Amino acid sequence: MDVYRAVRTRQSVRRFTDQPVPREVLERVLAAAADAPSGSNLQPWNVYVVSGAPLATLKKAVAERVAAGDCGDEREFANYPPEVRSPYLERMTALGEGLYGARGVARGDIAGRARIRAENWNCFGAGTALFCYLDRDMPVPRWADVGIYLQTVMLLLRAEGLHSCTQEVWAEYHRSVADVTAAPPERMLFCGMSIGFADPAFAQPRIRAPLSETVTFLD
Ligand SMILES: Cc1cc2nc3c(=O)[nH]c(=O)nc-3n(C[C@H](O)[C@H](O)[C@H](O)COP(=O)(O)O)c2cc1C
Repeated sequence: MDVYRAVRTRQSVRRFTDQPVPREVLERVLAAAADAPSGSNLQPWNVYVVSGAPLATLKKAVAERVAAGDCGDEREFANYPPEVRSPYLERMTALGEGLYGARGVARGDIAGRARIRAENWNCFGAGTALFCYLDRDMPVPRWADVGIYLQTVMLLLRAEGLHSCTQEVWAEYHRSVADVTAAPPERMLFCGMSIGFADPAFAQPRIRAPLSETVTFLD
């Protein structure tokens, strides 16, 4: 698949079919993604691929915690600045409108929003999830390495006809994830990624700032 096509067709899919993802496809994708660049070649990503019974156990454990009103484990890092300001706020609001408003859930409908958000912890129906950790002492630039790596994985998944959704919400229940991954204590969960075949009925608009808002040419 052409790189432009992989980039343009990648989207965060939030509804997957139950068609399983073959292990050899995942191995091919992850073997190629290992070619992603990183500062001083540290390759600071540590990935756990979970499917089958372990994923079912994890989905159930977190669903029970969410249903019991458990707000999650202590947070190890902030996902956003304390105050999300313009122009980021408008972009975030537009996403919320796409995720919740499009499904008939109003802005003030806390329970409705929570119900849709909880679909995250069912991996949106996907039967495979990847959990990405990095060592707790890795400074900011190494997090960028991990982002580059994850996008490489996502584009390679497109080349295999697969889709994905990266999910930072998994970090909210990182202890439940660690119960399944058995990641060593020096590793910190950054995010999960649901992987599978997109439900053909899934559709979501692409929401992006115009190029002039994010890119400056000086020539
Ligand atoms: C690091 C990262 C974490 C994300 N976490 C979540 C998440 O927890 N749940 C979710 O539904 N989407 C999550 N997303 C998806 C973003 O909402 C999405 O990338 C953004 O709205 C742009 O849409 P697109 O990916 O469909 O192009 C995450 C994306 C990234 C890159």
